[in-house]
Amino acid sequence: MGKYFSFFEQISLYSNILYTLISSIRFRTRVKLTLVKEVNILTKSDYMAEKILKEVNILKSKKILHPDDSVENVLLNHGETKEWADVFWRRRYQHENRSDPEIDLVFETSPTSVLEIGTGYGRILKKLDKERQRKKLSTKLFGIERCKHMESYFLLFKKQQPSLSDVEIYYENFFRSKQFRKRKFDVIVLPMNTFPSFHSKLDLLFRTVKNYLSEDGLFIFTSYKIPQNRTKEERRKGKYSGELLVEEEKKPILLEAFRFTETEGPYGIETVTYLIYYRFFEYYSIHKKYIYRLEHFVPQKNQIEKIITENGYKVKFFNDESHSLVFGCQTI
Ligand SMILES: C[S@@+](CC[C@H](N)C(=O)[O-])C[C@H]1O[C@@H](n2cnc3c(N)ncnc32)[C@H](O)[C@@H]1O
Repeated sequence: MGKYFSFFEQISLYSNILYTLISSIRFRTRVKLTLVKEVNILTKSDYMAEKILKEVNILKSKKILHPDDSVENVLLNHGETKEWADVFWRRRYQHENRSDPEIDLVFETSPTSVLEIGTGYGRILKKLDKERQRKKLSTKLFGIERCKHMESYFLLFKKQQPSLSDVEIYYENFFRSKQFRKRKFDVIVLPMNTFPSFHSKLDLLFRTVKNYLSEDGLFIFTSYKIPQNRTKEERRKGKYSGELLVEEEKKPILLEAFRFTETEGPYGIETVTYLIYYRFFEYYSIHKKYIYRLEHFVPQKNQIEKIITENGYKVKFFNDESHSLVFGCQTI
């Protein structure tokens, strides 16, 4: 007879499995890996390749990467991949308790249209839909998401809330959108601290948003607050974490993450993270391994204000009472 595990038993079971897996992978003596050498969407310049080589060597010395791993195996297109969509979807239960302070601000001006940039599997759109119903507004909701693999997850999500059926999501890159050419939105929202991930394209972000904002339209975004309790020493140390993502009737994914030392740049804290995904066959034998490199940037209030004014916008409101810095701005 099958045994039923309670929620806490499952957590404990999974953490034991995770521990065993990470230990066996770290000291890989017997594990045969299939390394993924996909063609990168971004080509690596010589300078970048040299930087990555140094990082890869550090990760090898820490036994986070295998001696056979090479710069060639490091992928730079994380945001568009199936790995990203699968992991974000598998984290949906963790997201359930998240508060999203930007939601309250979206409907303050009773907008007729709202566009969310980077919809993921539709978590925020679901909240916006509930809010427009609560306020008895007929606001039309739109979304744009560059990761096409999110679409099937949005469809699953929509089944739980059929009123999402009039929401239009376009699966393409916001900067290269063909769908929105002549459209204008009263509110454009970029939630869940996604703003800093556009670190190298902030000018383009503000320029593109301007093209799609109606007159007096509002651009709302949130950005990370630097935890006050982290010492300089802690920020200098690299940070390792591991996570086992289990989904009913699907193959498990093990995610290892290593964040390199944070440095102080002109627009805030800068850092590089490596995400290593192991996809398993059933019974936890490794099927494929993917290594992704991500650059991060965490600007703070005065730095964001500077970016806003440099790009021809003014701050309409600001709030830092929640876990995030919340900005609402308008073009000048
Ligand atoms: C942190 S997730 C947030 C998802 C969702 N807004 C939420 O709060 O649950 C950020 C999303 O933005 C998407 N994204 C990043 N850059 C994008 C771009 N240039 N165009 C469209 N979507 C983008 C990513 O693929 C990712 O799904």
